[in-house]
Amino acid sequence: MTTPDLATPAVELRDISKYFGTVVALEHVSIAAHYGEVHCLLGDNGAGKSTLIKIISGVFPPDRGEYVFEGNPVRFSSPRDALDRGIATVYQDLAMIPLMSISRNFFLGSEPTKGWGPFKRFDLEFADRVTREELGKMGINVRDTQQSVGTLSGGERQSVAIARAVYNGAKVLILDEPTAALGVKEAGVVLRYIAQARARGIAVIFITHNVHHAYPIGDRFTILNRGTSYGTFLKTDVTREQVVEMMAGGQELEELGHELEEFARVDGLAAEMKAGQAIAAEGRAHLPK
Ligand SMILES: Nc1ncnc2c1ncn2[C@@H]1O[C@H](COP(=O)(O)OP(=O)(O)OP(=O)(O)O)[C@@H](O)[C@H]1O
Ligand SMILES: [Mg+2]
Repeated sequence: MTTPDLATPAVELRDISKYFGTVVALEHVSIAAHYGEVHCLLGDNGAGKSTLIKIISGVFPPDRGEYVFEGNPVRFSSPRDALDRGIATVYQDLAMIPLMSISRNFFLGSEPTKGWGPFKRFDLEFADRVTREELGKMGINVRDTQQSVGTLSGGERQSVAIARAVYNGAKVLILDEPTAALGVKEAGVVLRYIAQARARGIAVIFITHNVHHAYPIGDRFTILNRGTSYGTFLKTDVTREQVVEMMAGGQELEELGHELEEFARVDGLAAEMKAGQAIAAEGRAHLPK
């Protein structure tokens, strides 16, 4: 990859809005991701995270606002356009074929071949070697690249998908909830690969619900709440607790607390009544007929 200008963001969305009919998915949202940084995009269900990354990855354009890539306004008409600029997205379902080998999956859609004409065939040796090398660079040592992807753990699979994107020249790597379905240890493995991608100078955009995954690795945090942004915060300017509070919407969390208290009270009353009725029934059973 050519040495990028580090002062200019890799990708930038300025004052973006996106509507689906009457649904306001995003309103006046801005975000800028830099090379060599992990930018965490946080927010509750329906906050607009996926909509935002779909705009960045060229799935659809914004209804309003500007998309700037390396300082120049762009308008992508398909994910292919974004990919051609090195903007790669690893979706949660990963687009891998479980029954195929690791190396086959690694080269899915860009199969290396050897031979010519009718003798042309998949270059297994090359694919195996490169897959092993590339995974090795990320610190992943697979026993056998012929092993089917279905036998890998969730974390390993995510790691292979990340390594594949990096090998294909990703400059901007978007990860949509890569740690959502993983256990603590597995999530740790994926977080380590995210750190490795950053060390290679890639601009990583990491979408997650989980502050405990985001906080240790993030350099910047953008927090969405119902389609609007609380803004972007540098790690040095915000605590983990503040991030949690913004994600939940402080006010709402407090309301929820009151509701739960009320619920517990009513529930307690109901339990008391039930106990009372049971005692009464027990008493009645002992009355002479
Ligand atoms: N294609 C669509 N058509 C209509 N409404 C949509 C569409 N895509 C998203 N929305 C709506 O836009 C809002 C934002 O959705 P989005 O998927 O971006 O949220 P999210 O932050 O990714 O949530 P989650 O954490 O649940 O994945 C939601 O209210 C959603 O219902
Ligand atoms: Mg989503």
